[in-house]
Amino acid sequence: MVAAIRVHKTGGPEVLTYEQVEVEAPGPGQIRIKQRACGVNFIDTYFRMGMYPSPVGLPFIAGNEGAGDVTAVGPDVSDFKIGDRVAYVGTLGGYAEERLFAAERAVKLPSAISYEQAAGMMLKGMTAQYLLRRTHKVEPGQTILVHAAAGGIGQILTQWGKHLGAIVIGTVGSKDKAEIAKASGCDHTILYREEDFAARVKDITGGKLCDVVYDGVGKDTFPKSLDCIRPLGMFASFGSASGKVDSFDINILQFKGSLFTTRPTLAHYVATRKDLLATANDLFDVVAAGKVKIPVKHKYALKDAKQAHIDLESRATTGSLVLVP
Ligand SMILES: NC(=O)c1ccc[n+]([C@@H]2O[C@H](COP(=O)([O-])OP(=O)(O)OC[C@H]3O[C@@H](n4cnc5c(N)ncnc54)[C@H](OP(=O)(O)O)[C@@H]3O)[C@@H](O)[C@H]2O)c1
Repeated sequence: MVAAIRVHKTGGPEVLTYEQVEVEAPGPGQIRIKQRACGVNFIDTYFRMGMYPSPVGLPFIAGNEGAGDVTAVGPDVSDFKIGDRVAYVGTLGGYAEERLFAAERAVKLPSAISYEQAAGMMLKGMTAQYLLRRTHKVEPGQTILVHAAAGGIGQILTQWGKHLGAIVIGTVGSKDKAEIAKASGCDHTILYREEDFAARVKDITGGKLCDVVYDGVGKDTFPKSLDCIRPLGMFASFGSASGKVDSFDINILQFKGSLFTTRPTLAHYVATRKDLLATANDLFDVVAAGKVKIPVKHKYALKDAKQAHIDLESRATTGSLVLVP
């Protein structure tokens, strides 16, 4: 038996229950992982509250990300062996001391990357990778707006955007967070709970506006985000920390400057193993080279997953959160 955090009925953080579960031997295509760190992400809260239905029904083990050591491999698995250091983002079952996982969706962890870094970045860092390199390919000299720039993805987008030569404008919820965003490389910060962020962006850019807006906040920043984008620019609405963006009339994109808009999600960008490895390796390269630091500022014991969710949802965190089994 191993310790895990299970959800028997969906709801608030209190439904996260610490208990013992059985982990079987790996079947075909599976590896068994002894986890050293488990990532905590917004998506975990969506499953916990039932906004995203659990594909395995109830009860389910919460969590979608982790890093650790391979302790057993299924009969037909040839890419991994016992003792390999691995990381993943994927199916539920992450908040546990040990778990089974599909070998096809796991990646080997380079020695330069720690377990905690990996658990703090597989989802957030690969999301930043596709947003900056594929959804909109950021070029030197471009101006990008990153909402919630002191957050987990926000700090990675900011650092990586600077590394690519962009001018980064970041919105933040407090003065303390503005300092964190500046330390990550933001050229300009905007206190978007107090200031009109679109007016500030216009001011900062001398009316040229941004090439792309990366928006993981959702409801509260729409449609104003569109006023921050230059004609033919890109609106990448990748998350809903404040709630879902309401339905809107597509003609608005014409009047705001023939804008492009997308609601991307990581799963589609890493659907093939080739894309998964390319995305993960690009991330490992910038982290190993010290160009992007993964701020794992919040570490909790596995049994304290409830507190991790409370902190994440109350805007009390900056950077990544991990549970340590
Ligand atoms: N599409 C994808 O592929 C993908 C992948 C991973 C995550 N996501 C999404 O990306 C977003 C950011 O994820 P993250 O893990 O890096 O989180 P995070 O940015 O560390 O935390 C969310 C931040 O959003 C801001 N926020 C604004 N309004 C909020 C509200 N009403 N409630 C809570 N937070 C609010 C807060 O920053 P301030 O206090 O500075 O406002 C908060 O710290 C989430 O929406 C997540 O679902 C998308």
